[in-house]
Amino acid sequence: MDVDERVEEIEEYGAHRHAAQDTRVRWIVQGENLEVLRALPDARAALCYIDPPFNTGRTRRHTRLRTRRDASGGDRTGFGGQRYKSEVVGVSQFADRFDDLPAYLEPRLREARRVLRADGSLFVHLDPRESHYVKVLLDAIFGRESFLNEIVWAYDYGARTKSRWPAKHDTILWYAVDPASYTFDYAAMDRLPYAAPGLVGPEKAARGKTPTDVWWQTIVPTNGRERTGYATQKPLAILSRIVAVHSRPGDLVLDFFAGSGTTGEAAARLDRDFILVDQNPEAVRVMRKRLAFAAPKTLTSRQFEGL
Ligand SMILES: C[S@@+](CC[C@H](N)C(=O)[O-])C[C@H]1O[C@@H](n2cnc3c(N)ncnc32)[C@H](O)[C@@H]1O
Repeated sequence: MDVDERVEEIEEYGAHRHAAQDTRVRWIVQGENLEVLRALPDARAALCYIDPPFNTGRTRRHTRLRTRRDASGGDRTGFGGQRYKSEVVGVSQFADRFDDLPAYLEPRLREARRVLRADGSLFVHLDPRESHYVKVLLDAIFGRESFLNEIVWAYDYGARTKSRWPAKHDTILWYAVDPASYTFDYAAMDRLPYAAPGLVGPEKAARGKTPTDVWWQTIVPTNGRERTGYATQKPLAILSRIVAVHSRPGDLVLDFFAGSGTTGEAAARLDRDFILVDQNPEAVRVMRKRLAFAAPKTLTSRQFEGL
């Protein structure tokens, strides 16, 4: 799709939105998420889930320059034709984004809090290598009292090392904007079968038991129907539980590290609105295909003007 086509799509959608019958927001936005977040209004989303990347294996380099005025020549021209000379005052390099994940996330998490409603929640999906760093950051942004759960997603799949306990869980941190008043729809929760239903009586056995903060769920099977081919895809069952319990029909759900769009599928199937942001064109291609049933609009971050 070329740019003109996309512009047309927005105009068409703008008109559509104002029609009384359809005020749904089902958007896939291709672009840098910080830019998109900054364009969103305050207190609009009921729920935000993110699954940021880490351990990319990439070498990242940050160079700090000091620039001074230099009448004798310099290496660049500034305001009023003044000549300036720049010198390198520091280079930091790290082998992986993991080393600096909190610094990278901080401005995005501050924006996430701003765009959440007063009864809204943020879920941050991490693994044990960096969850504690990000938790300290979230405590600072939301307040320690806003931390409500560390959910452990446990799975049982793949090779098992013999040199330490095989790592088979991820960590999902839940923060509520207001720890005294947040959406937690207990009745909407999927329930678990009792191990010994005969011991609890037919009524309880039929109802099932309340899940705890440890969620057993297999990974997305490599050849299952749910599989999109996107490497970091998370199970729909995990996102469906989060969306069902922490938002209500018609609410807006936001995922600004959207990948294959699992959050969007959970939101659409549960009758919520969604905004999914990813900078990777491949992710956008996968999401458009996966979410075609929900007729989402695709925008670039430049075209995105907020709600
Ligand atoms: C771990 S994946 C998310 C997977 C997703 N939860 C799913 O179920 O498919 C993280 C995604 O964040 C995207 N991403 C990373 N940095 C970004 C940024 N600054 N802005 C927008 N997207 C970004 C990557 O392209 C990647 O698709």
